[in-house]
Amino acid sequence: MKVLITGSSGLIGSELVSYFDPRSHAVVGLDNNMRADFFGPEGDTQWNLRRLRDTTQHFRHYDLDVRDRVGLANLFKSEGPFDLIVHCAAQPSHDLAATRPFDDFDVNAGGTLNLLEVTRQQSAEAVFILMSTNKVYGDAPNDIPLKELDRRWDYALPGDYDGVTEEMRIDRSKHSLFGASKVAADILTQEYGRYFGMKTHCLRGGCLTGPNHSGVELHGFLSYLVKTQLTEQTYRVFGYKGKQVRDNIHSYDVARAIDAIAQAPRCGEVYNLGGERANACSILEAFDHVERLSGKMMTYEYMNRAREGDHICYISSMARFRAHYPQWGITKSLEDIFGEIIDAWTARLRR
Ligand SMILES: NC(=O)c1ccc[n+]([C@@H]2O[C@H](COP(=O)([O-])OP(=O)(O)OC[C@H]3O[C@@H](n4cnc5c(N)ncnc54)[C@H](O)[C@@H]3O)[C@@H](O)[C@H]2O)c1
Repeated sequence: MKVLITGSSGLIGSELVSYFDPRSHAVVGLDNNMRADFFGPEGDTQWNLRRLRDTTQHFRHYDLDVRDRVGLANLFKSEGPFDLIVHCAAQPSHDLAATRPFDDFDVNAGGTLNLLEVTRQQSAEAVFILMSTNKVYGDAPNDIPLKELDRRWDYALPGDYDGVTEEMRIDRSKHSLFGASKVAADILTQEYGRYFGMKTHCLRGGCLTGPNHSGVELHGFLSYLVKTQLTEQTYRVFGYKGKQVRDNIHSYDVARAIDAIAQAPRCGEVYNLGGERANACSILEAFDHVERLSGKMMTYEYMNRAREGDHICYISSMARFRAHYPQWGITKSLEDIFGEIIDAWTARLRR
């Protein structure tokens, strides 16, 4: 396969490069390191690009902006047609979007439209996968009845036990501007499937994580949390008593899900993608995990005000994806995930 990955220096993009390259696929990546512009030096992904260059055989990288339509058309002319396109480039933070609304929308919505249209023009047979987000549901998941436990919130009703399905509404809720730009990208991607018959898919991620995240306070929950705890800095908890729950999926299991779709694509599909209940934890529970594995206690400051539109308890139901791709399953447990992130930060902080 000829594979194009946008945002190839980021967490998911780089995992996909590392996944497809040794399987003898021709992998083209594009990334303009805009994460450093969004989040400052801590968000810089150059180290990850260097790592990819040192460890891959067939990978070619382009410093290209997804907002650049002409640049994309030229890339498709010189490197295409592609068989698989995975769109991971994004402004990924809901808090940051409020301070940079035009950049957020231009990258997330405009960039996705650019990529869909150039795909239609030049690689219409390609399997197209958008990394979408559970923020397309806005804060609607907060309507699910909850119960408060000692260290976490949880769903109160047995029918909600397995988490949020794709039936959750995406409108009439507070999204943050980031969630709104991602809704536009998600709907556009579905539309290129339904209207033009292209093989498009949206993966609505829960917390996607792994050792190669350039975690910052505004994005990259577990990566940033582990880094803060290891460096004995103060972590800020925003509301919900620190009991807010996230389900966490390792980027390798995301790559395996994408591979499964590439082998049996559908048209205009939408799936939730997360670590499910088994890989869910609250912020307080995450502190406990890292303390147990690293011996470092977390110092934290509690802010009464929750983040705008933030989920209280979010667990992805993967029932739809599992029904379509029964060979797929989670291979990295929460314990594995914490272990790998701790090891990665320990090594990076030593350098
Ligand atoms: N990490 C998560 O928890 C999570 C959860 C749900 C959805 N997602 C989605 O998955 C995708 C990948 O997330 P990630 O965690 O790998 O993010 P990331 O920030 O680690 O990677 C995104 C990459 O895109 C690049 N980029 C940004 N703007 C660009 C532009 N205009 N042109 C070219 N490249 C650009 C960045 O430099 C960065 O390397 C995003 O769409 C994100 O919204 C992530």
